[in-house]
Amino acid sequence: MNAVVHIHDLSFAPFLSQSTIQTRIKEIALQLDAQYAGKDPVFLAVLNGAFMFASDLFKCLQCQPELSFVKVSSYMGTQSTGRVDELIGLQTRLQNRHVVVIEDILDTGVTMDKIFTLLQSEQPASIAICTLLMKPSSYKGKHQPQFVGFEIEDRFVVGYGLDYKERGRELPAVYQLIQ
Ligand code: IMP
Ligand code: MG
Repeated sequence: MNAVVHIHDLSFAPFLSQSTIQTRIKEIALQLDAQYAGKDPVFLAVLNGAFMFASDLFKCLQCQPELSFVKVSSYMGTQSTGRVDELIGLQTRLQNRHVVVIEDILDTGVTMDKIFTLLQSEQPASIAICTLLMKPSSYKGKHQPQFVGFEIEDRFVVGYGLDYKERGRELPAVYQLIQ
């Protein structure tokens, strides 16, 4: 954990240790349990980045949530209106369900705004956002997250599911770019 890691052309220093992350996940799980016990929630973990966070978070939850892994895909529609966003991987109808979106990181908020719009069309009872990391200084999203692991400065991080050019996701801790 103390060593610098090198990925492609960049170097990253240890930032959030495994134990720091796991301790915080237990706290977030308690908050989620308090809010969702008895409500039959459905959690949607956003691929690829949130896979590790979702996995560890789920092991700590008591509220027996349903889980789907989803992905936002953007494709050229048949009309000339430009790109169309689509949420793929949804396994269940969300109408009148309590939905919790699990993300690895909120940066500008563009991705979360897209996800939120797509989910609202399914008419769930509620939508909450749970993210491991958030960069408040760059966040311009319309919806504030209710569950945040760590607020961090606007500097690039990798590990624990987050990638730099598709590498580094396997690291069990979070590393920060050395500038
Ligand atoms: P947003 O749409 O700007 O909020 O960015 C969302 C996506 O950008 C995240 O889901 C990540 O995939 C990626 N991202 C943003 N910041 C970082 C970072 O510091 N490291 C790795 N990926 C990041
Ligand atoms: Mg991501």
